[in-house]
Amino acid sequence: MSKDPLVIFTPSGKRGTFPLGTPILTAARQLGVDLDSVCGGRGICSRCQITPSYGEFPKHGVTVEKDALNAWNAVEERYKSKRGLIEGRRLGCQATVQGDIVIDVPPESQVHKQVVRKRAETRDITLNPSTKLFYVSVQEPDMHDPSGDMERLIAALRADWDLPELEFDFSVLPLLQPALRKGQWKVTVAVHLGDDVVAPRIVHIWPEFYEGTIYGMAVDLGSTTIAAHLCDLQTGAVVASSGVMNPQIRYGEDLMSRVSYSMMNDNGAQEMTNAVRAGMDTLFAQIATEAGIEPALIMDAVFVCNPVMHHLFLGIDPFELGQAPFALATSDAISTRAQNIDLSNIHPAARIYLLPCIAGHVGADAAAVALSEAPHLSDDLVLVVDVGTNAEILLGNRQRVLACSSPTGPAFEGAQISSGQRAAPGAIERVEIDPITKAPRFRVIGSDLWSDDPEFATETLSSGITGICGSGIIEMVAEMRIAGIVDGPGLIGSPEQTGTDRCFLDGRTYSYLVYDGSADGGPKITVTNRDIREIQMAKAALYSGARLLMDKFGVDTMDRIVLAGAFGAHISPKHAMVLGMIPDCQLSRVTSAGNAAGTGARIALLNTQARSEIEQVVQNIDKIETAIEPRFQEHFVNASAIPNAVEKFPILAGHVTLPTATFNTGDAAGPTTRRRRRRG
Ligand code: FES
Repeated sequence: MSKDPLVIFTPSGKRGTFPLGTPILTAARQLGVDLDSVCGGRGICSRCQITPSYGEFPKHGVTVEKDALNAWNAVEERYKSKRGLIEGRRLGCQATVQGDIVIDVPPESQVHKQVVRKRAETRDITLNPSTKLFYVSVQEPDMHDPSGDMERLIAALRADWDLPELEFDFSVLPLLQPALRKGQWKVTVAVHLGDDVVAPRIVHIWPEFYEGTIYGMAVDLGSTTIAAHLCDLQTGAVVASSGVMNPQIRYGEDLMSRVSYSMMNDNGAQEMTNAVRAGMDTLFAQIATEAGIEPALIMDAVFVCNPVMHHLFLGIDPFELGQAPFALATSDAISTRAQNIDLSNIHPAARIYLLPCIAGHVGADAAAVALSEAPHLSDDLVLVVDVGTNAEILLGNRQRVLACSSPTGPAFEGAQISSGQRAAPGAIERVEIDPITKAPRFRVIGSDLWSDDPEFATETLSSGITGICGSGIIEMVAEMRIAGIVDGPGLIGSPEQTGTDRCFLDGRTYSYLVYDGSADGGPKITVTNRDIREIQMAKAALYSGARLLMDKFGVDTMDRIVLAGAFGAHISPKHAMVLGMIPDCQLSRVTSAGNAAGTGARIALLNTQARSEIEQVVQNIDKIETAIEPRFQEHFVNASAIPNAVEKFPILAGHVTLPTATFNTGDAAGPTTRRRRRRG
């Protein structure tokens, strides 16, 4: 008796023998090979595409003959003529085993495909969404064996797809009978596969094979802006991204003013809840329009946010978060119906998920950063800093992860800086100051030219030179320190002390002239000593949070630093270190992660296993509450100097020599050490 043919799958390497005529899809399923299918092998969905390989395979010990698979069949021909099929591909449900064969499963045919992230050093996302599509053929009703259409649909899904006894959303019932009859008893259903809170359930139904896809939304709900990515739940691709201002801004720029608003006004919390939910609904509608899809095709949404936004979005008064011991209503992840938070531009049966909070001041946004940057999986010690109006800071490795948040305030966003502005065309974002002449040259957003380029004036004609954005002010102050215009304690020197009349007396202290466009009706851009103070306080808050975590970890250095947040992506590591905003570290080991909180939301949206992972990881993160740590104030005072009154920056010293002169003649006030209010 001849032996059954051997089937070898790559890249998994899984292999087994199968009787002649076994479809490749069946072989794949039996071996647990990750080969996709929505239509269950009916030759409609094309998800099961495979590439057979022929010839000698010494590595596998097989020779694959030309007739190792059955001949190209009519179903494949029909599919190819209608939709096209890459040369050499077959449909795995139509190709059957006729001899030993090596089968490659291309990435797009894998169920748990990897969604590649832009940065090489981070993990790819494994696609494993909450909601999937299944095509199924349902038995027609029989007068002699009466049963409901839904019961027969559920039975068919169990038989064909091995799904458990499904529940169904009430909204599906009116769609069911027309869909079954229109599709001649063949339908596609969207099934939410269940989580810790709900059992697996049918959420939508289409007649026949549904050619389209379904979507999910990953949302970073910030106190200033709400940013969202619309993702295809079948491919993991980001289809559209957009953002709106958080409408709660009218109740206060920072989080504490919103908490106070809720304390001072009856219904204040409810008003803010209504505002943020309305803003969210607008954003969902806006993105759906941009992508040209019906909002009802959005079947899942994941939100990350700080604790105050978390509470207000869920309709919980944030009162307790405004006072020690900063108790959260719940720190657990939330899984609930979208309807419970009044979202209407989403499928009526859609569910939403909020990542867990880490502590009263360290929210689901920090958990999302942890999910994205995975310090808990890092062999080396990594400091992750999400720079915003409130900095979320994580320090850790495989052994241990610590987290805190630190109130940096809005200075890094250009607020409370005399010439500060948000990042927009015309804002100074890069600066160099000549150490001899003390003259600056700069670049503005919207142009790649430096200001000493002859073409600069022409190129910036439309945007103008309007102010200094957050990353610009960091470079500006650091360059002023390197050039000897500002001293270690943070005082701007006089023209005599600095050797430049760009420094001028401005009240009781000196200011530094960056750019004077007043002759042409433009602004006069200066850096005042008060601006320096604001930056000193913001960076001292950030550094002292990081230093506190280093104390708790028992280290004075770390192997690498990740700057997260939209702003973090624009910060020059060297300048941040000169400022003493981040600890001393090899400059090449300071990287930026972009919007890591948003990425964490996307990971949790696309991979439900990642939700369980972060719920587990958060349990093991040690939370440090900076407000009650006795050494925070000491670190803060030390970190108010530029770069630091006590800490040495030996690695930085290898790159930059900082002047040691000080400008205090006894009549100027040193940097204030008042504690910042929490902001976010
Ligand atoms: S499984 Fe759908 S076409 Fe093969």
